[in-house]
Amino acid sequence: MQFDLDRYAAAATRLDLTGIDFDAFRRLPLDPTTLRCLRFMHDVEHHTVCYLRDLLVTPAHRDPAVTTFLSVWNYEEMWHGDALGRVLAAHGEEGGAPRVARLRRGLGLRDRLAPALHALGAAVAGDAFGAIHMTWGAVNEWTTQAGYARLAERAGHPVLSDLLRRIMRQEGRHIAFYAGQAERRLAVRRRTRRIVRGALAHLWRPVGAGVMPADEVRFLVRTLFGGPEGRAAAQRLDDRIGRLPGLAGLGLLTGVVDRTAAAVPPSASARAAAAPSPPARCDVVSAVRPAA
Ligand SMILES: [Fe+2]
Ligand SMILES: [Fe+2]
Repeated sequence: MQFDLDRYAAAATRLDLTGIDFDAFRRLPLDPTTLRCLRFMHDVEHHTVCYLRDLLVTPAHRDPAVTTFLSVWNYEEMWHGDALGRVLAAHGEEGGAPRVARLRRGLGLRDRLAPALHALGAAVAGDAFGAIHMTWGAVNEWTTQAGYARLAERAGHPVLSDLLRRIMRQEGRHIAFYAGQAERRLAVRRRTRRIVRGALAHLWRPVGAGVMPADEVRFLVRTLFGGPEGRAAAQRLDDRIGRLPGLAGLGLLTGVVDRTAAAVPPSASARAAAAPSPPARCDVVSAVRPAA
């Protein structure tokens, strides 16, 4: 089904929090593992505007349909971060501007280079850049939505489940745009499909991996996509990605899950479960687009 961009933009609104009882978390707090995942998600949702900065130096800014979508997407992601910050605050944790400012202060040189690297990457990709951007976005939105679903399932907290369901609904609209665009752009040329496949195979990393500490990324992957149910969810994501033209059998998610399981013993990952995450650093510019 064709994505109705005008309707999407006209209906844009901040996340509806009507009836979400944040005080319920004071009476029935979340477990440390869930909170650690939420800190990660909070930080990455709030980082969307920085991803947008990196994208606007690429040819993405020339397409008004893309910039209309990105404007609304960025707005909605900011409110996702805000809502997750309120969950953290209900647990006596810092969320929102002070935490975001600390994260950004810790990003360093690679963050400052990110726009230039994106511009360079787009120049190298040439005509295929738009397809890379849209496919990357689809993969990340699918992954994010699945991550929220897994977290809600794992936490079993009624208020958190309600909140995450509302966020996931908006992520679903992001998926509709990115996946529709990816499908259309990938269908045109075999060369584009080959370039997009190569870019994903060699450069894609989980959402947030470019800005969050590697330990936190591994923890999130293990928590949400470890074990039989988690790996089955990763396989479903791979199957969905594989239905895009030219991307069958890529195995992005199961690859990450299996490498993470092999690299980090569960006990090592669990040690830091109760600790607040340290200031984030930028490992490397994670290529085109990210987000949540
Ligand atoms: Fe999203
Ligand atoms: Fe989001």
